[in-house]
Amino acid sequence: MKKPWSGRFAGKTSKIVESFTESISFDKRLWRYDIEGSIAHAKMLGKQNIIPVRDAEKIIKGLIEIAGEIERGKFKFRKELEDIHMNIESALIKKTGDAGKKLHTARSRNDQVALDLRLYLRDETREIITLIKNLQGVILRSAEKNIGVIMPGYTHLQRAQPVLLSHYLLAYIEMLQRDRRRLEDALKRITTMPLGSCAMSGTSLPIDRAYVAKLLGFDKVSDNSIDAVSDRDFALEFLSASAILMMHLSRMAEELILWSAEEFSFIELSDAFTTGSSIMPQKKNPDVAELTRGKTGRVYGNLLSLLTIMKGLPLSYNRDMQEDKMPVFDTTDTVKACLTVLAQMLPEIKFNKGKMHEAAGNAYSTATDIAEYLVRRGIPFREAHEITGKIVLYCIKNKKELKELSISEFKKFSPAIAKDIYSRIRAEDSIKAKTSKGGTAPSEVKKQIKRLKKLVR
Ligand code: ARG
Repeated sequence: MKKPWSGRFAGKTSKIVESFTESISFDKRLWRYDIEGSIAHAKMLGKQNIIPVRDAEKIIKGLIEIAGEIERGKFKFRKELEDIHMNIESALIKKTGDAGKKLHTARSRNDQVALDLRLYLRDETREIITLIKNLQGVILRSAEKNIGVIMPGYTHLQRAQPVLLSHYLLAYIEMLQRDRRRLEDALKRITTMPLGSCAMSGTSLPIDRAYVAKLLGFDKVSDNSIDAVSDRDFALEFLSASAILMMHLSRMAEELILWSAEEFSFIELSDAFTTGSSIMPQKKNPDVAELTRGKTGRVYGNLLSLLTIMKGLPLSYNRDMQEDKMPVFDTTDTVKACLTVLAQMLPEIKFNKGKMHEAAGNAYSTATDIAEYLVRRGIPFREAHEITGKIVLYCIKNKKELKELSISEFKKFSPAIAKDIYSRIRAEDSIKAKTSKGGTAPSEVKKQIKRLKKLVR
């Protein structure tokens, strides 16, 4: 198979070099975008009379045929043709002869690959945004359904203050909302059209870049040809937004793993989303959550790969940049798989409401409410904190819960404490009182649900 760049070479490429430099084994995934970009380019070349319109038409017809062959699995991808760009161009030349030989006018693989990756990431990013929205919807429905459920909130993984389970769940919707915004923002830079930068300095031929951008639905044409073929920021932004997204999914996964442990027993995962042990018959393992947590490491690795690939590159294009594809492809696959499986797993979780409520009421989790009670009676917060700390210490020593203290016991710590203290120290009272904006009171959580509903619609 004759290589498109063979003119300058007298000798043959060694087999090991062909294997070492090829990217067709993985960049064939870009075929659809490569053809889409080539069709737009051919139309432009025809419109500008850089090539005869008849040739442009032949090229487009040939490219559509090739797309059909690839779709039907009838196209033979050749390693000796390196990459998706040369594979498709060679097939086109075989089909259309001289017309096909004109497609690569005013174009280089350097701007072509940048375009293909941008087209790919535009589709994938949009799909991922939709999947995030879907997962948000799933979480929101669970928050609505479980509005009365009380659980302990934690800091340092120590029981801190009682909260509504719904409030807890909404926290994840907020994180996912920022992920969506980050990806939407990344999209603005993904959709810059690099074609026409050619190898790196542009072209002397009278091309119309804005027309190509319009055909491809890109809102902007790149402003500097050297930058356009060197730039992988758009992929890095995608990878970094994905890494943060995965961090959120991983934290959620970690909670599910903890909560389904015997020690917590807050939830039970459904049989369909757990797996067994090959030796311990009693086991039901949260593997989906564990793998989500584990795959987060892969996505972080992908971000770091590309950052490292790019860091030492002199301008402009360098072949190192071919290594951008694997981390990007692996990230889109991993992120989509995690978002999809979690969205299916979450609705099937059984919350152990009794166990959660019980845990919320224990461990002096309403001590802050006593301190705030004292503040309302004019005691400075630092003093109120000290008094309440002493009450807790007394309870620990005497093995009592706060609600088990008599009023005379309370009064020993502060004369400001009256009988109404008992309506402040149950978990549900504490929750109801947290009416500050964004707080855990049912009235507030309902407002949050109402606001978030609009975002996931
Ligand atoms: N396969 C290459 C890549 O993915 C395409 C661009 C190659 N350009 C070149 N001049 N060798 O980056």
